[in-house]
Amino acid sequence: MKNPGKNEYLRELRTKVVPQGQGSVTPYYVEKAKGAMIYDVAGNEFIDFAGGIGVMNVGHSHPKVVAAIKDQAEKFTHTCFMVVPYGPVVELAEKLCRLTPGAFPKKALFLNSGAEAVENAVKIARYHTKRPGIIAFESGFHGRTFLAMSLTSKVKPYKLGFGPFAPEIYRMPYAYCYRCPLGLTYPGCEVACADYLREFFITHVAAEATAAIIVEPITGEGGFITPPPEYFPRLQEICQENGIVFIGDEIQTGMGRTGKMFALEHWNVEPDLTIVAKSLAAGMPLSAVVGKTEIMDSPHVGGLGGTYGGNPVCCRAALAVLEIFQEEGLLEKAETLGDKVRQRFEAWEHQFELIGEVRGLGPMLALELVKDREAKEPAADEAKGLVEFCHKRGLILLSCGNYGNVIRTLMPLVIDNEHLERGLAIMEEGLTALSK
Ligand SMILES: Cc1ncc(COP(=O)(O)O)c(C=O)c1O
Repeated sequence: MKNPGKNEYLRELRTKVVPQGQGSVTPYYVEKAKGAMIYDVAGNEFIDFAGGIGVMNVGHSHPKVVAAIKDQAEKFTHTCFMVVPYGPVVELAEKLCRLTPGAFPKKALFLNSGAEAVENAVKIARYHTKRPGIIAFESGFHGRTFLAMSLTSKVKPYKLGFGPFAPEIYRMPYAYCYRCPLGLTYPGCEVACADYLREFFITHVAAEATAAIIVEPITGEGGFITPPPEYFPRLQEICQENGIVFIGDEIQTGMGRTGKMFALEHWNVEPDLTIVAKSLAAGMPLSAVVGKTEIMDSPHVGGLGGTYGGNPVCCRAALAVLEIFQEEGLLEKAETLGDKVRQRFEAWEHQFELIGEVRGLGPMLALELVKDREAKEPAADEAKGLVEFCHKRGLILLSCGNYGNVIRTLMPLVIDNEHLERGLAIMEEGLTALSK
């Protein structure tokens, strides 16, 4: 039933009972969602270019996912895998071990959230190497729990006031070519930012004290920064030379978001450990660390786990997601979708001075907005204005980036052409209005 006053009612109640620290980008309360559409309690409809922050790659309420959840819920919802184990964990582990990059024997551990998987990847890498140090990157985002927050780069709003942070974390500059931290220009730089890791071992943390590097193939919250092709192979080579575990945080880039199942495949990089979450189980809370058997098997029995890790309903949802990828050719769809969106974004780059850079891979695309192209001053207010303009016209859109000036697309890969075009048209209207 449509209820015009319900949004207002819930907003008012929320201010009384939900802490402000957990904000929402839009003021609308969802009633139902299907495919790439969201319908709110007042009967408004929205095209979804956010996918619950990159979680709904197979679309909202896919019938196959819904059926799997219902079926499993009727059988049992929880026994705890550490008490009475069950098949869906093992079946999903087998599939993820095959799908993640790396032609070596692998094992998979299931947890509940991205941050929890990040924490476990670090635990495993430390146990395996018997070293404490972890190298993370500027613009990196790895979650909000203590260790994950310590690994995260951006201070406001993620870290301010929440310290002290976990020790033994060291931060490298990232390959942000548009704003090169070393002041160089690609390709003349010869990707010096990757080789800088060798220097880093002298000035920040010794290689022999470093357990792992943890890196996003394209920074999610950090602005969809997409390193040049040489970057990750070079980083990996240095890790291999020094016995350092390479952890790929594919939480936002994984599950087809960049047109390949995992983004590091674009550069033929095989990380020692891959972290998967978000679109893995279409919104059910499930994450995984998948990686080399010799590393995954390092910790002793009982050293890893958690009450809900590998919940059977979540694992069944994830198994359905993997079937959907196959049956509906979602990787091919992702590529086509990426091409279409990129074409529009590149046309806009010619049309609107406000756009400093178009970047990303597949449909994981972004516009970095600047006040003028020469000075590259971040246009944060304009990005906020564009996001709000779109929300008011029925398109859910998200910004990101260190300066909040990057507009990103995370729409379900199953979005149909009509809704895609309608969404892009709203964005274009917004860019036109901001450019006046
Ligand atoms: C790359 C990356 N790592 C880690 C996380 C944390 O995941 P979660 O919010 O499920 O803890 C996120 C979430 O946005 C992410 O994008």
